[in-house]
Amino acid sequence: MNMTTGKADGGLAFTIPARWYHDPEIWARERANVFGKEWLLVGHQGQVERPGDYVAGEIAGWRYFVVRGRDGTLRGFHNVCPHRAATLLEGDAGHCDVLRCRYHRWVFDTDGALKATPDFGEAPGFNRADYGLKPIKVAEWRGLVFASLDLDAGPVEEGLGALVDMVAPYPIETFRSVRQVTFDIACNWKTYTDNFVEGYHIPGIHPGLNAAIDFKGFAVENRPRIVIMSAPQRDGSIYEGVWLWRYPNTTLSVFPGGMNTSSIVPLDRRRTRLVYNFYFADRSPAAAETIERTIEINCQIVREDFGICETAQGNLEGGIYDRGPLSPVQEAGVRYFHEMLRASLGIAD
Ligand code: FES
Ligand SMILES: [Fe+2]
Repeated sequence: MNMTTGKADGGLAFTIPARWYHDPEIWARERANVFGKEWLLVGHQGQVERPGDYVAGEIAGWRYFVVRGRDGTLRGFHNVCPHRAATLLEGDAGHCDVLRCRYHRWVFDTDGALKATPDFGEAPGFNRADYGLKPIKVAEWRGLVFASLDLDAGPVEEGLGALVDMVAPYPIETFRSVRQVTFDIACNWKTYTDNFVEGYHIPGIHPGLNAAIDFKGFAVENRPRIVIMSAPQRDGSIYEGVWLWRYPNTTLSVFPGGMNTSSIVPLDRRRTRLVYNFYFADRSPAAAETIERTIEINCQIVREDFGICETAQGNLEGGIYDRGPLSPVQEAGVRYFHEMLRASLGIAD
């Protein structure tokens, strides 16, 4: 087995081993080397327009929030009060006039500085300046909001890789999200990701989608940090037929007059949250029906994958299966994802 590609000597590529889909050690490495390092899609411009607007989330056990400051600057912090570790902001998005911890009411400025410690009393050696919020990195890119827990992360465009060029022809910053839809799925984040980066399962699992595309023309292409999947559309299809996935956990699909994005968010080793947003250029009442139909059809396809991913997860943990061979044509995206992951974790298998 080749150490970096997972390829056997004959060139046949294999998946990562089943153990990786539940092992606590792998999970710890993923937290540190993947989700603690990469640029992650955490929201969009419509959620953080005014001072005090915020998005909050949790990924791989890290809670964070991103808030528009009184000075208009977007900043991000770990969502952990430096006093006794309470979560500062609840929910996934909202507005706050004051950043006040609800546990003992300490107050922070939107730049992270500790401003007030009501009723704390005189404490020798206590200096407010030592107890500001811990920052994370934040970037706005074409209407989307990204964060990295790594303060040394390079520019977001580097993290996005070939996604930048792929999306260049589309006016995505003019699209606005009309809905966020969240799905919880009982499998490891990689079980779901493996499924997302191949179209091999479309005839078996997605009969409606299969009827709308020419499956024989389904193509997968790997470019730096992304997998591009495309298929010729039959008449009347609502899909433009380009699905993008960016390492480690962002998806972006463009359709006529809009797009959807998703983050594949690991909650723990066995639970994954999908956070979808549906964006449209035309949000007039005349477009309402098309918008509803587009969202519903897309959500239906997303849901169709859950059963198969959840039972595969059980089998990945069951002790019978170790690893499987990958089709060079159909599963090139799975191979690329696993190569990226092996490189991030610094281990072969
Ligand atoms: S934990 Fe936040 S004020 Fe005590
Ligand atoms: Fe699918």
